[in-house]
Amino acid sequence: MIRAQVSGLVADEDMNCFERDFTMMQVLTPRSPTRLDLKKIESQLALCPSLPSLNSINKALQELLAMDQRYSAQISEVIRRDPSLTSRLLRLVNSVYYGLSTPVSSVEEAVFYLGMRQIRQLTMVTPIIEDFQRLTQQCPFPWREFWQHSIGTAILTREVVTAFSALTDESEYVAGLVHDVGKIVMAWSFPDHFTEIHRQACEGVRDLSEIENEVLGIEHSELGALYLERHRLPELMVQAARFHHCPERASHHSAIIAAVQIADLLLRSEQIGCSGNFLPVTRAQCLAASGWAVLLPNVNDAEQAIAKASLHHSLERLPQVLEGLV
Ligand SMILES: [Fe+2]
Ligand SMILES: [Fe+2]
Repeated sequence: MIRAQVSGLVADEDMNCFERDFTMMQVLTPRSPTRLDLKKIESQLALCPSLPSLNSINKALQELLAMDQRYSAQISEVIRRDPSLTSRLLRLVNSVYYGLSTPVSSVEEAVFYLGMRQIRQLTMVTPIIEDFQRLTQQCPFPWREFWQHSIGTAILTREVVTAFSALTDESEYVAGLVHDVGKIVMAWSFPDHFTEIHRQACEGVRDLSEIENEVLGIEHSELGALYLERHRLPELMVQAARFHHCPERASHHSAIIAAVQIADLLLRSEQIGCSGNFLPVTRAQCLAASGWAVLLPNVNDAEQAIAKASLHHSLERLPQVLEGLV
């Protein structure tokens, strides 16, 4: 009787135990969200706000690329005007150079230690993360570790590209940073589905995309691409979101997207940050990723092995850098 009152049902004297328990289970168990069709997904996606930082990063990137070391005084000035950026910068430099006898406390000093490359990366990352954080406040998820996954993938994508090609323009960093944007969009647009997907993913027995397809009806890769297309973001970002699990299918920028796939897998195999996909990735799976053939179609096995080994050093340093950044 007490149990029936809890559920708000009137106990039926004629009900047998089995029927009563079954009714109770239906009432007390939260109902799983319904799988949606593409039309419903797209109309819900239309409500997801645009991220101003994604629109501005291309512009900021170009401006920053035009600057060089001589202008570090002006750069310091710009950074100093932004308290959030200043504190992130100081945190980063003090965690990367943790052995310094006196902690770095001035922006100029930090710029001197970190160099332009890291400053550029930090400048890009800060507004994006802050935008993302606004969107994801409501959903329980290890977001801090997820930002580390996103930034870590960005940093490592860059390392993969530079290990195999001298030509880079930092666009690969952006591709790595936004590759999993679909998860953020999913958390905002479909919070109940996202929570259920996360619950199932935590069991670590099935791949995240498979669960997403089953529970929501779309994977984060496609959802992210639809979102970026809707907001008219560059082709590279759209392709990176859509094909980061299968770079061989990308029609443009396939080498950069291959680097994103490899970086993503390496981070997951080393358990750096948290992508939300809890299915373990082995080192052998990283080495067998389809992206290697896209990235290095004409390189022999010995050269590949040397290049792959050079990535280990970057991987080792990464956790420390990420601690300072996020
Ligand atoms: Fe992904
Ligand atoms: Fe990822």
